[in-house]
Amino acid sequence: MKNTHRDKIVVVGAGNVGEAIAYTLMVRAQANDIVLIDVNEDRAKGAAIDIAHGTSFHKQVWVRQGGYEECRDAQIIIITAGIARKPGQTRLELAKTNVSIVKSITENIMKYAENPLILVVSNPADITTMAVLETSGLPANRVIGSGTSLDTARLRYNLSSRLHVNVEDIKAYITGEHGDSQVAVLSSATVGGFPLEEYARQVGITLDKEELAEHTKNGGAEIIGLKGATFYGVAMAVSTIVETIMKDNSAILPVAHMLDESFGKWAGVAVSLPCRVGWEGIEAAFKIPMNEEEEAAMNRSVELLKDFWAQVKE
Ligand code: 2OP
Repeated sequence: MKNTHRDKIVVVGAGNVGEAIAYTLMVRAQANDIVLIDVNEDRAKGAAIDIAHGTSFHKQVWVRQGGYEECRDAQIIIITAGIARKPGQTRLELAKTNVSIVKSITENIMKYAENPLILVVSNPADITTMAVLETSGLPANRVIGSGTSLDTARLRYNLSSRLHVNVEDIKAYITGEHGDSQVAVLSSATVGGFPLEEYARQVGITLDKEELAEHTKNGGAEIIGLKGATFYGVAMAVSTIVETIMKDNSAILPVAHMLDESFGKWAGVAVSLPCRVGWEGIEAAFKIPMNEEEEAAMNRSVELLKDFWAQVKE
């Protein structure tokens, strides 16, 4: 008899982001079955076939188009569907549209999946994470927003190019909103295991921290201005979250989830902090050491998200 066991990942939304994620999952062989779901079935089918053709240069990974029943036995379901902001459309209008899209996707997922692990990528990412959590009724550890994983990657990249050092040697986080109120936590950043400031001093580089944080924050807008959309960076960020879950790595990643009472005034909002991630999803979330300024910025980010969520929910 054929072994029907497969590591299956479902990607909902076969737009630029969903397609790039599926491609990255295939290239990194993070599952042997990748299923794309989209209201536009042809688009999902075309994307799946295109990606699947590449497997003959690689290893056996099934990549295919499917329906929501595929969620029943998927290890991870990734939601990327949503519209991009149209000219003249406000952030709130976009949020309302995308929240209603992810809510209906979540209802479809929950028709089939018993206790799924859902990764939410659709923008505005923290708001859609709350919408999926609320609609699914899942525990907070099983609904993970890609949050500031991409912003953190941008920060590390920007630091590595300014400091001329291997990006893997840099540990630094963006926390808070995946958006304008994000917080660059540079006070506890390290290079090669020692403080960022110390490294910069020894190599004789003066870091303009404000410029660095601004450049990082505007990373998405910069790319959209140049080529109309961003998708490769987020695909690597998401596939790294997937890898951590599938391998049960317990890696520390900056992702969003609903913070509980132990986070005091940050509780009750899905927002990014460094979290330990494994097979069950979020294993623990950490209050990374922050200086006063960073903490105040984090408070503002949380407040802003709470207000925004209240308006979207109306
Ligand atoms: C990004 O930051 C637009 O959220 C997307 O690249």
